[in-house]
Amino acid sequence: MADIRRDARSRLAEASSVEELDSLRAKYLGRKGSITKIMRELPRVPQDDRSSLGILANELKQEVMGILARRRSLLAKAEVLQRQAGERIDVTMPGRRPQLGRRHPITQVLQEIVEVFVGMGFSVVEGPEVETDYYNFEALNMPPDHPARGMLDTFYVSDDVLLRSHTSPVQIRVMEKAPPPLRIISPGKVYRYEAIDASHVPMFHQVEGFMVDEHITFGDLKGVLEDFIRQIFGKGTPLRFRPSFFPYTEPSAEVEIGCLICEGKGCSVCKGSGWLEILGSGMIDPSVFCPVNYDPERFTGFAFGMGVERIAMLKYGIDDIRLFFENDLEFLRQF
Ligand code: DAH
Repeated sequence: MADIRRDARSRLAEASSVEELDSLRAKYLGRKGSITKIMRELPRVPQDDRSSLGILANELKQEVMGILARRRSLLAKAEVLQRQAGERIDVTMPGRRPQLGRRHPITQVLQEIVEVFVGMGFSVVEGPEVETDYYNFEALNMPPDHPARGMLDTFYVSDDVLLRSHTSPVQIRVMEKAPPPLRIISPGKVYRYEAIDASHVPMFHQVEGFMVDEHITFGDLKGVLEDFIRQIFGKGTPLRFRPSFFPYTEPSAEVEIGCLICEGKGCSVCKGSGWLEILGSGMIDPSVFCPVNYDPERFTGFAFGMGVERIAMLKYGIDDIRLFFENDLEFLRQF
């Protein structure tokens, strides 16, 4: 018994956790514990020694239980303190900056374009991406078999239904519903059946615009587009209008800006010319006014259409349109 006492005193004093105390308690006082064993054997001890042995065993048991209880409350307190120290909040620690989302660069450029025109009094109207042949071609002066249809490689849903290959059909939809004067801008997605490469994707964005009233002239077209380009690309941006052809405008003009990469000297982006085409435009052809019942003798108008990805590429010096659709965060976080 003296051995057990010595052993219990030293081991209980050394125990460093409540868990360790629990296993020591089992060792001495559990069902197979050494003190329990002594108590259980007492009835078999000769009568003479039994009561003194019983008293000693009981004392030992009480002592071990006492030590256990004291150590347990001490260690439990220490453990709580330790846990609290680990959890203490350092109010002086700088906060973690939350990751902020941002708009896709194409959305940003598109909104910028729209804002410039809204600032000039244009209203925004959107049209359907699934269109009919009538709005996408026919009403825009491209009857069946018109060669200009070949400029727009179109996805067909059926003979009459297609994914719009430009935003120009919105012109017809708006003019059908409202009389002049009109100043409309129409951004949205367009689709073309095209092999994907650094400058072609099957879905991209355009912004269409048009203005119809009495006495609208080519001078108005030039004024509005020059103002737009200077707001988007900067005040000193050189620009020029070149004759072009679209079935729905006459005369038609392409607008070019001085190459932003080589500043007009000639490089691979502008193919040596020093100029970059950024939009198509023209005076609305009288044949477009007929189906919407506008009097071509009384009203004139201009229209234009531009590719948003192209403008974004020129503005930011991006040489591959596919970057906009890969959604690589390293790329997107730059905008
Ligand atoms: N629809 C033309 C295209 O997708 C762009 C365009 C050119 C729109 C001239 C117009 C315009 O409104 O007048 O290439």
